[in-house]
This record gives sequence, structure tokens and C-alpha cells, in this order.
Amino acid sequence: MKILKYPHPCLRKKCKELQRIDKAVVDRVAEMFQTMYEARGLGLAAPQVGWDARLFVINANGEKDGEMVFVNPVIVEAEGAVNEEEGCLSVPGINMRVGRAERVRVKAFDLNGRQFELESDGLLAIALQHESDHIDGKLFISKLTRAGKAAIAPRLEELEEQFKAAYPDAPTSCPM
Ligand code: NI
Repeated sequence: MKILKYPHPCLRKKCKELQRIDKAVVDRVAEMFQTMYEARGLGLAAPQVGWDARLFVINANGEKDGEMVFVNPVIVEAEGAVNEEEGCLSVPGINMRVGRAERVRVKAFDLNGRQFELESDGLLAIALQHESDHIDGKLFISKLTRAGKAAIAPRLEELEEQFKAAYPDAPTSCPM
């Protein structure tokens, strides 16, 4: 799978709930993990690979048993505040501190269609918020202060130039 980069319009889309978990979905999720590992990321959301679905994967420890899939996730509680450095595979070359809740509780479905709840803090809590933003069409760079946005402006311009070169006929939607 190819990871879409800023400013691809699919990254700005509020994604649709997944209605059905079938083999195609399970296969696609396996491919997402593979793509994420190859890119050395710890989280990847469906819109980042051009899929208009409320789904993301996270692996915070890099081991097979660390694989987590969140289908139609909802953050039901958030408390505390942290300000840690984040990066994003769709916005390469930018690492900036972003304000987030310290702890979150998330409700989601797994690939067996079972609902689960997860309470987390630390890196996982930040990843859950970062990936949840993705499926709402939000990138972490939109949360920067005005000074932060000014600091990354030159890099965003580079990414915009690369995008124009890669897609002469500017895409307007998610490929899948
Ligand atoms: Ni990201």
C-alpha cells in the first residue's frame, strides 16, 4: 500500500463507519500493518492509505502481540493534558509538540466484530488521539500554534510541490 501524503484530499475527509467486517477488510488491515512496519510508524489510519473508513491500527511495542485494530472507534473520555512531540507518516519531515489529553478511554470494535473498551495513558493515549483525528480528516499540524505553523510552512510548501508533481490531475477523493 502507498501512504498518502499531505496535502492529499483523502487526509481531509471525515471517514465513513465500517458497516461490515469481511475477509477483504481483514486482508486490508494486514496490509496496513505491513505498510506501517515498513514505514517505521506506530499507528496508521485507513485514510492514510486511501481508504474511506473509520478504522486505524496501532502497534506501540513493535511486537506481534502489540497489534491493535480499532474499528469505528469513539473516544468516550479524555482527561489531563500533555504536550509531546508527534510526527506523522503522511506529513514526513515534521516533528512538533502538540497538546493532547493525558488519558483517554476508547470504545471500538475489533476484527471479530466484538466491542471493547480501552483506557490508556502515555504514548498509546497520544497515538489513539492522533489516529482518531485522522479518521475525522484532521492532521496533527492543524493543532499547532501560530508560531508552530509558521515554523513548518516551508516544509509544507515542499510537500505541496511534491504532491503537484506526483498528481498532475489533482485527485479530489479517496481511491478506495
Ligand atoms: Ni498520522
